[in-house]
Amino acid sequence: MNTSNLLSKYDIPAPRYTSYPTVPYWTDNPSTEEWINSLNNTLNFSNKSLSAYFHIPFCETLCTFCGCNTSITKNHSLVEIPYLDALEAEIKYYLASVPKLSSSPFKEVHLGGGTPTYFSDENMERLLSMIHQFLYLSNDTNLSIEVDPRRTRVSQLEILYKYGFKRISLGVQDFDKEVQRLVNRIQPFEITKKITESSRKIGFESVNFDLIYGLPRQNLESMKKSIDLTISLRPDRIAFYSYAHVPWIKSSQRLFTEDDLPKAKEKRELYEQGRQLLEANGYKEIGMDHFALESDGLWKALENGTLHRNFMGYTEKYSDILLGFGTSAISESPDCFHQNEKLEIKYRKLISEGSIPTLRGHKLNEKDKIRKKLILEFMTTWKVSIPLELLEDAKEYLSDMELDGLIKWEENILRITESGKPFLRIVCTVFDERYRVSKPSKNLFSKAL
Ligand SMILES: C[S@@+](CC[C@H](N)C(=O)[O-])C[C@H]1O[C@@H](n2cnc3c(N)ncnc32)[C@H](O)[C@@H]1O
Ligand code: SF4
Repeated sequence: MNTSNLLSKYDIPAPRYTSYPTVPYWTDNPSTEEWINSLNNTLNFSNKSLSAYFHIPFCETLCTFCGCNTSITKNHSLVEIPYLDALEAEIKYYLASVPKLSSSPFKEVHLGGGTPTYFSDENMERLLSMIHQFLYLSNDTNLSIEVDPRRTRVSQLEILYKYGFKRISLGVQDFDKEVQRLVNRIQPFEITKKITESSRKIGFESVNFDLIYGLPRQNLESMKKSIDLTISLRPDRIAFYSYAHVPWIKSSQRLFTEDDLPKAKEKRELYEQGRQLLEANGYKEIGMDHFALESDGLWKALENGTLHRNFMGYTEKYSDILLGFGTSAISESPDCFHQNEKLEIKYRKLISEGSIPTLRGHKLNEKDKIRKKLILEFMTTWKVSIPLELLEDAKEYLSDMELDGLIKWEENILRITESGKPFLRIVCTVFDERYRVSKPSKNLFSKAL
């Protein structure tokens, strides 16, 4: 089958599998007690690893493509201190309810958003000292942060470095002025260049750029220029995301016209061109939508077989527990998921009442755990060995994809082929019992490409 036909056959909505079960299929909410018990039970076994994620929802302006949980305000004085107070109370709640937390070292701590660099220098310093005071960090803890180059400054980068942050991820998206205008994100190349160079000078070891393909009016020529400019700054890693168009969830995505969006074939060509340019310049493709230089930890993690995937996307280190703090943050233990309230005001209210700000969650059953492991292995290594009891069903479900050359079998080992890589999410649905049993009847996920 030629590429065009493949694209139209398989460009269907599918989850990105940063969790299994995926959030829309969470059914079995844990009570607060069950959630805390799950953390305590996990930590009572030795050698369990932990990571933390802090969600800072604030942004000064809204980029119309954005799918993140944000709270748009320029009124810093109204939101910064109350939010930091709530975060501190949330950490203390966990420390009081899960005694082993204070003696369990964190492998990774990531600040994401929204825009973590929204904070004033003083409030950033308060957040970082809070993390150091309450979480057990070791010399091996990876500390990383998402940075909006338009909303940071050298003094703030120096504070981050002083508190042990060595990894920085810059939101770039696209360097093309017309695309930037359409998505309400004016970010001259010079700003990104300055922040990249300052970060290196300060001592940051890994600089990531977030780029997106599939944005309005992107074309092969403009995208080539953006990738060339990216390569000229030599970030250690690049997240080259497929634009997730979900206007039924994010109404701001209706602010540009859908006619301006590249169609499936054009969108795939944008990715392929980007991939070729990056690979020709020393970058290696890692999992879905990610590239890294050989010197970067993400590439080394792929080589060592330690690459992990969770709600933060691909990470270098496996962890049994991910603790998410702040609005909408998702936490994970081996047998539970837990998500915080999404609305900032409600989140703060729940915290002030002394409770965990639960929005929803899911208790994994034994089948979920097996399928979660298979999906994780497939997403991080491009191959997976299928247990015999699932083999016949998997072969039947994937028979069309095998004929179309997207996957191949070596006995019970399933491998993705080069031409199958764009459809990794679709192949993963073979393990997604919940999606297969109850196919989404309405819009739930962005399209696979
Ligand atoms: C929290 S933002 C990064 C930090 C900061 N807010 C900024 O924009 O510079 C996380 C990243 O998610 C990606 N992103 C947001 N909305 C997206 C969408 N609809 N489709 C694909 N990627 C998206 C963007 O690449 C963005 O840089
Ligand atoms: S892309 Fe970043 S800055 Fe833009 S709205 Fe989303 S979170 Fe905020």
